[in-house]
Parts: sequence; C-alpha cells; structure tokens
Amino acid sequence: MEAAADREPVTVAAATTAIDRARDLLRAGRSVTTFSGAGLSAESGIATFRDKHDPNALWAKFDPMELASPEGFARHPEVVRAWYAWRREGIARAQPNPAHRALAERDDLLHITQNVDDLLERAGASIDRVVHLHGEIAIDRCHARCGYEARLDLARGSVTVEACPKCAQPVRPGVVWFGEMLPADAWQRAEHACRSCEVLLVIGTSGVVYPAAGLVMLAKSAGARIVIVNTESSGASELADIELLGPAGEIVPRLLAE
Ligand code: OAD
Repeated sequence: MEAAADREPVTVAAATTAIDRARDLLRAGRSVTTFSGAGLSAESGIATFRDKHDPNALWAKFDPMELASPEGFARHPEVVRAWYAWRREGIARAQPNPAHRALAERDDLLHITQNVDDLLERAGASIDRVVHLHGEIAIDRCHARCGYEARLDLARGSVTVEACPKCAQPVRPGVVWFGEMLPADAWQRAEHACRSCEVLLVIGTSGVVYPAAGLVMLAKSAGARIVIVNTESSGASELADIELLGPAGEIVPRLLAE
C-alpha cells in the first residue's frame, strides 16, 4: 500500500502519519459522510467503468451511449436489457469486501454512493443510511414513469417483465442513464449531507461524472475536511486534505478500526 500525506514524498513515516491523521478525523462522534464509486466494489469483483488498470473496465469495452442512455434503449431495448441482466448476475454473485463491512459497522455514517449494487446494504448498512445517487440495479421501473416499480431478488435470478403492467410502456432498470436527471430525493439528501458534514470520506471514484463529482467541492466549500481513498490520484485529488493511495479493502478498515 502506498499513502501520501498532502502530496509529501511517500515514506513509511509519511504514510503512517496520513493514516493516523485520517483516523483521527474519522473517529466516532464526528459527523462523517462517505461518497463512493466503483472502486469501493472493485475488490468484490465488480468491474469499474474507467479504471485504466482494470482489464474489465466497462466503458473500455462497451459504448455507454448504446447501453446506458435513453437513446440506446429506444434503439435496441433487448440489447440493453441483456446487458443489465449480465451485470445483475455478476452483482448477485459478488460479496461485500472488507471496505463495505468496515463502513457498514459504523452506524453513524451516511453513505452517498454512485454504485448501483447493494453491497453496502448486504454488508449490514441500514437502507436508510445509503443514498443511491445513480439508482439501483435491482429495481425495474416503467420507462414512462407511470409509477410502476419492482424490486428484484437478484440472488434468485428474478424474471423481469418487458412491458409495464400498469401502462404497457417499456420496463427498464432503475439506474440513471447519461442525459438523465438524478433522483431528486437522493440528490437533496446528498447535497444536505455534504453541506453539513465535518468530514467527507471519498472512496474509489474517478470524480469525473457530474453532478455527483461536484459534491466533493460542495463539501469542501462548506468547510468539511476531505479524505480520499483511491488506488491512484483522481479528479477529486486537488480537493483532498488527506489522500491515501491504495486499495479500499485494505485502507478503509484501518481508517475506521476502533
Ligand atoms: P470509475 O470507474 O470512473 O472510477 C473508479 C475509481 O476507483 C478510479 O478512480 C480507480 O482508480 C478507483 N479504484 C479502482 N479500484 C480501487 C480499489 N480497489 N480501491 C480504491 N479505489 C479503486 O467509477 P465511478 O467514479 O464510480 O454512472 O464512475 C462514476 C459513474 O460513471 C458511475 O456511477 C457510472 C459511470 O458512468 C452511471 O452509470 C450513470
């Protein structure tokens, strides 16, 4: 594991100091919000989107405008549904990793995640402490937003319906696609949490997809300290008070251990 403290040269002493300083910031009793991305679930075997060291990174292999946009869904819904069925199978097989478990163990944290998987919840985090900014892959909903929504049991390989039982419009995964708005309630909770927390713990996100990525600046401007855990520097690095470079599964449990 490598660690950097305020971009000092990385030495064992500097790494230890950075971890200790971060541990102190994150200790119980502080108001801490977490903001995570695909890197949090990478060690569970779920592909990232654009990590250049990840041989399975999704956007290096697949075209997001074909598979994650309303236009792509209109052109070939069967291809989009098949791709999400494949991702659902992978997520169903995956298990929470030590980072998910360490985060879930601290029931005072609020987790804002861009991840559509349910690994924080399966690690034991309360569902009302997890805000899914980009939706949830285990939900099917009416594309026309008539109100139909169904939560699938991915472990049982739930059968999905193609036509909405209420209005007959196409049914689609309950995730946010490119060009779509984020769920308003999730966004409001995220903004409020970032404006009011003392520390924002940013884990495994490239920090390039907006508006989610803007939450780090929002928290920083509101006076929060920013602690970043990532295997390499990211779009949010410039905002970090402490940046810890290494796998989340190793660093996060060390940060949150009592
Ligand atoms: P990305 O794939 O863009 O970035 C993953 C980040 O995780 C990178 O910065 C990696 O360096 C880091 N990383 C990889 N493995 C790690 C590990 N074991 N520990 C710590 N960090 C690690 O994923 P996101 O930032 O989540 O949106 O992407 C944001 C959004 O872009 C996604 O929610 C998705 C995508 O398009 C939608 O689908 C709407």
